[in-house]
Amino acid sequence: LFVNASKVSARQIPQSLFGVFFEEINHAGEGGLWAELVSNRGFEAGGQNIPSNIDPWSKIGDDSSVILSTDRSSCFDRNKIALHMEVLCDSEGPKICPTGGVGIYNPGFWGMNIEEGKNYKLVLHVRSLNAINVSASLTDSTGSQTLASAKILASDVSNWTKLEVLLEAKATNHNSRLQLTTTQKGVIWFDQVSLMPLDTYKGHGFRNDLFKMVADMKPGFIRFPGGCFVEGEWLRNAFRWKDTVGPWAERPGHFGDVWNYWTDDGLGHLEFFQLAEDLGAEPIWVFNNGISHQDEVETSNISPFIQEILDGLEFAKGDASTTWGSVRAAMGHPAPFDLKYVAIGNEDCGKKYYRGNYLKFYNAIKLAYPDIKMISNCDGSSTKLDHPADMYDYHIYSDANNVFSRANAFDHSSRSGPKAFVSEYAVTGKDAGQGSLLASLAEAGFLIGIEKNSDVVEMASYAPLFVNVNDRRWNPDAIVFNSAQAYGTPSYWMQHFFKESNGATLLNSTLRSDSSASLIASAIIWKNTEDDKHYLRLKLVNFGNSPVNLKISVQGLDLNSKSAASSKKTVLTSTNLMDENSFAQPNKVAPVKLDLENADRNMDVVLSPH
Ligand code: AHR
Repeated sequence: LFVNASKVSARQIPQSLFGVFFEEINHAGEGGLWAELVSNRGFEAGGQNIPSNIDPWSKIGDDSSVILSTDRSSCFDRNKIALHMEVLCDSEGPKICPTGGVGIYNPGFWGMNIEEGKNYKLVLHVRSLNAINVSASLTDSTGSQTLASAKILASDVSNWTKLEVLLEAKATNHNSRLQLTTTQKGVIWFDQVSLMPLDTYKGHGFRNDLFKMVADMKPGFIRFPGGCFVEGEWLRNAFRWKDTVGPWAERPGHFGDVWNYWTDDGLGHLEFFQLAEDLGAEPIWVFNNGISHQDEVETSNISPFIQEILDGLEFAKGDASTTWGSVRAAMGHPAPFDLKYVAIGNEDCGKKYYRGNYLKFYNAIKLAYPDIKMISNCDGSSTKLDHPADMYDYHIYSDANNVFSRANAFDHSSRSGPKAFVSEYAVTGKDAGQGSLLASLAEAGFLIGIEKNSDVVEMASYAPLFVNVNDRRWNPDAIVFNSAQAYGTPSYWMQHFFKESNGATLLNSTLRSDSSASLIASAIIWKNTEDDKHYLRLKLVNFGNSPVNLKISVQGLDLNSKSAASSKKTVLTSTNLMDENSFAQPNKVAPVKLDLENADRNMDVVLSPH
């Protein structure tokens, strides 16, 4: 491997080449990154239907002591369903309530993670013609052990009333539930019941451990909120940003019919931008362009959809004096977000009305926001696009050999047209298992190719980012979690090898080898802001099953004996090609950092198989 470390042949890598793609898939947000613990908090999961689907809420008590139903009496205009709870027992008889009372419980998303010493904020809306005396408690999954409890007493709730209670946990249980019980006869309506840990990232509602795992990748950008989630199976179920802003309790929520689950949309339009800001990542908003998997809006009728998106841009970018900028400001973020990129649709290039709709969106946005860069769904890597675009989207899901070979996919792309946004890549199928070493090796090779072609590839992100093990809709994923734990798959750890690349200097490097079909390498110089020093990083993937003896020669490198002696190598490999991580062995396949003993301008290294 010959590396030229002189600036002459070097090139700057885009500042946001490597980032992340967050999609509401696999309960990534709902019951995941978004820390809300109550599932179906507004009893709306049945949509407009009565009786509504109140799952996973359940009854405490038998049919002779409590009757649950739903009606449309809520105080919230956009989510009218409320829970009607009729209690037939009390503490005096004739029908005596069981000890602990009767009522409802919510197990959250496959169990709530309640931790000793932590505080949880319960917010609920109630109405009753009588004074109420309700116990709010956090218990184990059967209701037998109480972790925290508080009394909710109110003398006049004849109009809908918002109540707040702070619960401090006295014990830990990763599979807990929230209970609301009473021993008082009468009718109580409940609506919009929320339980949030007080301890979320900066109080912004993001689950700390999951946020940290993403932040540790140092993503240059975040693409959101999908994927197919943006399109919907049917347009009526697509993500509509206006339904996801304003106070959480007022959001209607919606059924995401591609990944088949209800979302209360606590993680909404503002929260996605907040997430980007907290990560220090460029936000990339993918919006619905009037096309779903099953239906399309004809171009002649697309105007209202365009206005909706212009309003969404004003929400993000307008100052607080604008109509939608003022809504953002009222939600606690007066400063506009620095939104520079939008994607017009997702995977819709072949659809009947895509080009027509695309052009309408493109022209309207160019006029209103000339600086926003727009991303087309049509692949321009080998043929010129037939429409104007600032970037084009490129997705690749395939077996390991194919993904590894795609390292060269952009070698011959036009150097003058729009640049590529590889917004979804992953090894899938048998080679991937549920996240194998093999998959990560192929992806690492692919990313080295991206790095070397970063004059024509502007951005790249793995997909999907998250999976809640209780609802694996897509396999594999980068970060696997349950209510309390999380681990990275080898593909997650692979991406850590690229986190210093954004904005770094790519050096000219040439590999001469008999095994070049299974070997790939790149070289960068990056500045570590912690010690203000420049580092040379060589990345090498041996995709083959034989060891490779490599002679490395770096020309033009200013290397003294002290820095040579402190050089390191980081290795990602494992005993078996299909090895995976798990909750029991989260770091079975994870980077290991070692001293690089013979570091020099000329050195011999052995790359073990895989
Ligand atoms: O990443 C999973 C899905 O793959 C995305 O929703 C979609 O864009 C692609 O088909």
